[in-house]
Amino acid sequence: MKHALILGASGDIGNSIAKQLAAQGWSLYLHYNQNELAVTQLVKKFTKLYPHQEFLSVSFDMQKRENLATFLQSIFAVDALIFAQGTTDYHLLTETSFDELQKMWMMQVAVPVEMIKALQPKLARSKAGRIIFIGSVYGAVGSAMEVDYSTIKGAQSAFVNAYAKEIGTLGITVNVIAPGAVNTQMNRIFSTDEHQKIAADIPVGRFAKPDEIAYWVVQLTNEQAGYMTGQTIYVDGGWLK
Ligand SMILES: NC(=O)c1ccc[n+]([C@@H]2O[C@H](COP(=O)([O-])OP(=O)(O)OC[C@H]3O[C@@H](n4cnc5c(N)ncnc54)[C@H](OP(=O)(O)O)[C@@H]3O)[C@@H](O)[C@H]2O)c1
Repeated sequence: MKHALILGASGDIGNSIAKQLAAQGWSLYLHYNQNELAVTQLVKKFTKLYPHQEFLSVSFDMQKRENLATFLQSIFAVDALIFAQGTTDYHLLTETSFDELQKMWMMQVAVPVEMIKALQPKLARSKAGRIIFIGSVYGAVGSAMEVDYSTIKGAQSAFVNAYAKEIGTLGITVNVIAPGAVNTQMNRIFSTDEHQKIAADIPVGRFAKPDEIAYWVVQLTNEQAGYMTGQTIYVDGGWLK
């Protein structure tokens, strides 16, 4: 039985990934930071639908590296590691504190990298281990008012470029799925007018549904996807890349 750990399963994109992987027979560790209810509901639902698979809820504030070792004790077998956690802030770089930068770096780069280092031996066991980050098109093209966010998303892509070269022979692939604008909690701060203006700039004419991002994550988890590694795959409706 294959096991995936989904960081940020309580978020909208993570939730969609969980639904699609559960339907494909995966057992899942479903991570949350604050929204325990979202994950508890998933565990309940999946346990009923897929009684022969395992579903566990796990929590961890990824801004706190000191809790990583304890968190890792709850992870046994793992074949796929999916980083779907993450937040952004909207302000000018000159108004961004060192502490804010540090928190974003910890949650989206430093702690994930530490986690990967610890879990690499487990991921190597099946000879088809998978590591997938949900990055962002802003990691390639950048966004004003989100310089810190764009920087860490670019760092995720740089990390997969390099790390893929170290682990290719272990059968582990490492990639980024980089969305454009997706209809999730993260974008609820936009007014209807702002939302429409952004949608009008996107060739497909709308924000992505979380399922349309999850779809590509699931493709990468497939055993036949073993030759795709070190890549950032842009899923942005033709918007910016
Ligand atoms: N939505 C978009 O347009 C878009 C575009 C490009 C890329 N992305 C990326 O997609 C990923 C998922 O975002 P989403 O749109 O699904 O947003 P979302 O629904 O707001 O989900 C955010 C997730 O991040 C988790 N999280 C927040 N703070 C955390 C912390 N300190 N430690 C650990 N986890 C934490 C949340 O956990 P709790 O809720 O349990 O606290 C939640 O699971 C992010 O990396 C984001 O950058 C999103």
